[in-house]
Amino acid sequence: MRNGVQNDPLSQIKYTNTISLPIPPKILRENRVIMGLKDDPRSDLFRVLRTNILKQLRENGWNNFFVTSATQGAGKTLISLNLAIAIALEGNQSVILVDADLRKPSLARNLGIECKFGLVDYLTGIVPIEQVLINPGIDRLVVLPGKYTKNNFSELIASPKMANFIDEIKSRYESRIVIFDIPPLFVADDALLFMSYFDAALFVIEDEHNTKDELQHAMTILEDTNLLGVVLNKSKLPAPSYKYGYGYGYGYGEVNRAAVRS
Ligand SMILES: Nc1ncnc2c1ncn2[C@@H]1O[C@H](COP(=O)(O)OP(=O)(O)OP(=O)(O)O)[C@@H](O)[C@H]1O
Ligand SMILES: [Mg+2]
Repeated sequence: MRNGVQNDPLSQIKYTNTISLPIPPKILRENRVIMGLKDDPRSDLFRVLRTNILKQLRENGWNNFFVTSATQGAGKTLISLNLAIAIALEGNQSVILVDADLRKPSLARNLGIECKFGLVDYLTGIVPIEQVLINPGIDRLVVLPGKYTKNNFSELIASPKMANFIDEIKSRYESRIVIFDIPPLFVADDALLFMSYFDAALFVIEDEHNTKDELQHAMTILEDTNLLGVVLNKSKLPAPSYKYGYGYGYGYGEVNRAAVRS
């Protein structure tokens, strides 16, 4: 146990304390959680993404990042989830994926689970952490889903409670990767408030969904953030699919050209 955290409930948590809720393959398939399935050919995309991201995290001594996009619906939650599973399957480290999109939580829906409580319930003291940590039936993976509750989100994100929670979750286990699925950059100030808590970011673009100005504005917001990469999601470009299916790994100029709405 680290100094100074003896009284923090998070310090008591071991993976055995989590709620075990194995997700049936049918649900994973229906919800496009392909990394949770055996031998889905599309999972290679996430293996490439995983390798690239882990390399950067290791080289820089980082263990956490957030996933965001410019606007809603780009695929942040789905990509965070598939990536989290891909990292957990690698076997060298555990992963915690936190649904920090407080206004529009959707991790539970993507996993096909009904959760009674979520991150906000823990942060506001309604339930202890044990009641919001779920193991979805994949070794080394814990998810912390969200559940919508009426709150002042900006104040909650900027609160000492949130800061302590994130600090604690990042430093609890050396070999654990922490992924936060946060709101889009252009929705309220939530993403801006979250950004400073993390080492790095992964940016998701929905192909042909944003204008050039929107993407440029997003890049300006992320200027001071360590960008691990950009995922071009829902791409309609043809094969070679490993390069284009999720379009991961392009420089910004390339992404800009490929992703801009015509
Ligand atoms: N590559 C893909 N191919 C097909 N459908 C996809 C793909 N990625 C995401 N989707 C679908 O698009 C919708 C939005 O995805 P998701 O919820 O992951 O986006 P999001 O960026 O988290 O959205 P929000 O901003 O609302 O949180 C979902 O219905 C999801 O299943
Ligand atoms: Mg989402």
